[in-house]
Amino acid sequence: MKFFIDTANLEQIKEANDLGILDGVTTNPSLMAKEGISGKENIMNHYKTICEIVDGGDVSAEVISTDFEGMIREGEELAALHEQIVVKIPAIKDGIKAIKYLSSKGIKTNCTLIFNVGQALLAAKAGATYVSPFVGRLDDISSDGLQLIQDIVHVFNYYGYDTQVLAASIRHTMHIVECMRIGADVVTAPLNAIMGLMKHPLTDIGLQKFLDDYHKLNK
Ligand code: G3P
Repeated sequence: MKFFIDTANLEQIKEANDLGILDGVTTNPSLMAKEGISGKENIMNHYKTICEIVDGGDVSAEVISTDFEGMIREGEELAALHEQIVVKIPAIKDGIKAIKYLSSKGIKTNCTLIFNVGQALLAAKAGATYVSPFVGRLDDISSDGLQLIQDIVHVFNYYGYDTQVLAASIRHTMHIVECMRIGADVVTAPLNAIMGLMKHPLTDIGLQKFLDDYHKLNK
């Protein structure tokens, strides 16, 4: 399973990358705004910097147009910025058309704001590299986000689609663990949820005992 970090914060991206386990980064306009990044030039430079930190990893950069022409214009500009850029496009009618167009040009795409299996299937048929079902936002409205991941994984496997299921809107460590269990191809998560995977009190207690025993005989 691939691990992406879901942030536009450069320090957090560096920290996850330094662990040696990072396969990519996902951003969205809200995450960029959270870092105070505005203006086309700054936004483009920020994406470039992220690509340079995560050498070889896929970096999702989202379009803000909602019409076909605007999305393909933005998508081509973003893709030309760096070879690691994946163009993130919303799961709306013109978005599906834009995914079809961009994928036929060999540009990688990530279909975002996926909340049902039908949207995921249309994106896969259009040739999306990734689909991003939002787990946490479904849980927030008393729906089962993880069930959606499981259903999309099942449908893609059944019909043999190459499109990868990228579980997004991950809120905590158990979301990641469950996504592994049900076979998501990628999880994009905040840094604290990724770091949570390492936590176990028996690891800390066991390590302390090993060190204490060593130091008893090695003053
Ligand atoms: O990048 C899209 C997604 O991961 C957003 O997550 O926490 O805003 O629902 P969240």
